[in-house]
Amino acid sequence: MCGIVCYVGKKKAKPILLEGLKRLEYRGYDSAGLAVQDGNHIHCFRTTGKIIELEKKINDLDICGTTGIAHTRWATHGEPSEANAHPQMDQDENIFLIHNGIIENYHTLKKRLEKSGTVFRSETDTEVLAHLIALNFDGNLDEAVRKTMAQVEGTFGLAVIHRHKPGEVVVARRGSPLIIGIGKDENFAASDVAAMVRYTNKVIHLNDNELASLSDEGITISTAQAKTVERATETVEWQPEDAELNGFPHFMLKEIFEQPETIRNAIRGRLEPGEGVPKLGGIMPVWEKLKECRHVVIVACGTSYYAGCVGRYTFEKLTEIGVEVELASEFRYRKLNFPPNTFIIAISQSGETADTLAAIREAKRKGAHLMGIVNVVGSSISRETEAGIYCHAGPEIGVASTKIFISQLTILTLLALLLGRHQKLSLTEGVEAIKALSALPDQLKRVLAQDNYIQAVAEKYYRWNNWLFLGRKYGYPIAMEGALKLKEISYIHAEGYAAGEMKHGPIALINPEMPTVAIVPKDSMHEKMLNNIHEIKSRRGPVIAIATEGDEKIKEMADDVIEIPQTLDYLYPILCVVPCQLLAYHCARFLNREIDKPRNLAKSVTVE
Ligand code: M6R
Repeated sequence: MCGIVCYVGKKKAKPILLEGLKRLEYRGYDSAGLAVQDGNHIHCFRTTGKIIELEKKINDLDICGTTGIAHTRWATHGEPSEANAHPQMDQDENIFLIHNGIIENYHTLKKRLEKSGTVFRSETDTEVLAHLIALNFDGNLDEAVRKTMAQVEGTFGLAVIHRHKPGEVVVARRGSPLIIGIGKDENFAASDVAAMVRYTNKVIHLNDNELASLSDEGITISTAQAKTVERATETVEWQPEDAELNGFPHFMLKEIFEQPETIRNAIRGRLEPGEGVPKLGGIMPVWEKLKECRHVVIVACGTSYYAGCVGRYTFEKLTEIGVEVELASEFRYRKLNFPPNTFIIAISQSGETADTLAAIREAKRKGAHLMGIVNVVGSSISRETEAGIYCHAGPEIGVASTKIFISQLTILTLLALLLGRHQKLSLTEGVEAIKALSALPDQLKRVLAQDNYIQAVAEKYYRWNNWLFLGRKYGYPIAMEGALKLKEISYIHAEGYAAGEMKHGPIALINPEMPTVAIVPKDSMHEKMLNNIHEIKSRRGPVIAIATEGDEKIKEMADDVIEIPQTLDYLYPILCVVPCQLLAYHCARFLNREIDKPRNLAKSVTVE
């Protein structure tokens, strides 16, 4: 949830760390801090609020040190305050440490340390790490961190410097991402490549229970058991400009407008139009078992979960496979009982979501096969699954997930189509699907071209405090995703409902001050959705319809109609979600919300 960035080299560390923090701000943004080592002196600064506050505090200071660590925080233990911000220090202020994750036994450790005279200056769990490393230090920082790792339970990505070890940064990982960036006469470490991609595209992913010592001369990696690790570097595909606004006012809007390209990236090199079969190299390690599989469980959280819910309908339409979709946060605590040859498909943008990781680990223990649909290359989920498919969507910076949802839907469709072609779909059906998939990027551009109109619709309704989103079948998860987008960035209360449930309760809410967004493309549910809209209009509820171009009936019924091009039933979700994203975006903008960094949220949820 928080962001870590570290530098050791020959350049001044301060600007590199600040720049890195800005790239990571989307991961957490309630306080920030940095420590830069200058000989045997360490300059440490912390503030509450955004990185800009930290920048204001140190802008005029000439800090020459070339080694440093920096952190942006999303509070878990202790309110956002200067004392609770990172770096945290030991009593003598020799150790300066930053940490992502949660130390689960910190109460016990804290009590023990307090008994022997340690005075704590923060409410964080992180501070115990700083005190323990100081107590374990006898000249070797690496070793002190290793001993501390053996004493703590929980998750961490951490970085530490010591006053008497200039030019050295030690980083360690258990359950929270840490990536090392390799430069020439300089090295970096961060919780996310976005912080380093401007300086290097050569990276090494640290595994759980490993630590690394970084200097300007090189890096050494070892395990918690002090075994040296040799690991090759990987090359990151992302370009520095991927993490820039490029003229857009917000990353969310930029990412919404990138979506035609996102689909192209998801299908590029993966379609065999003549055969009507997708090619998915990443699943080849499990292909023989997968093509025989008749039971899939999709696990995910948030927006990725809603992608899974769409995927269920698509799999059921195109394959002979029965699909369950589970919130990873619930699945991990269930008593699991699978039929043989069950595949778990974990869907995650970050590949680091704690609940999703825990869910796949539990499923593995019970004998299921694991696959991932992940955006971040080299992330924990991508490494802990037997096979998978990358989204190749580039970095998603806005906390509200948009382009990755589109990418996940596209990839789920490719996977279902591939399996379906081996099970029941004809060549004609396969060719038709690939043709329709290939048309999506241009169709999406037509939806985006209505941005001004969608903005005008948002202007009409943004002051209204309660919204309903309704859909059936493929449209139901889109209703839930539309409601999630609206609530998370505009703070307007919204409910996503299966339209068939209206009579079982929610219809009581309908009144002239509750707008309903109806997902009503011309698919197999069209007539039934029209009935729902009638019922809402009879109770004088305003209706914003997302409907297929040329649907004259809907124009007579709804107050506002946002049109999408015609496509296949199971591809409509990809087009229908975009007006929902834009409606949420414009409502949030009219309400002056912090669109890319909504309150209380963080991009990557690496704690339970
Ligand atoms: O990185 P993941 O896809 O695993 O993240 C899952 C959710 O945390 C994420 O989709 C979240 O719900 C977003 N804020 C939605 O916009």
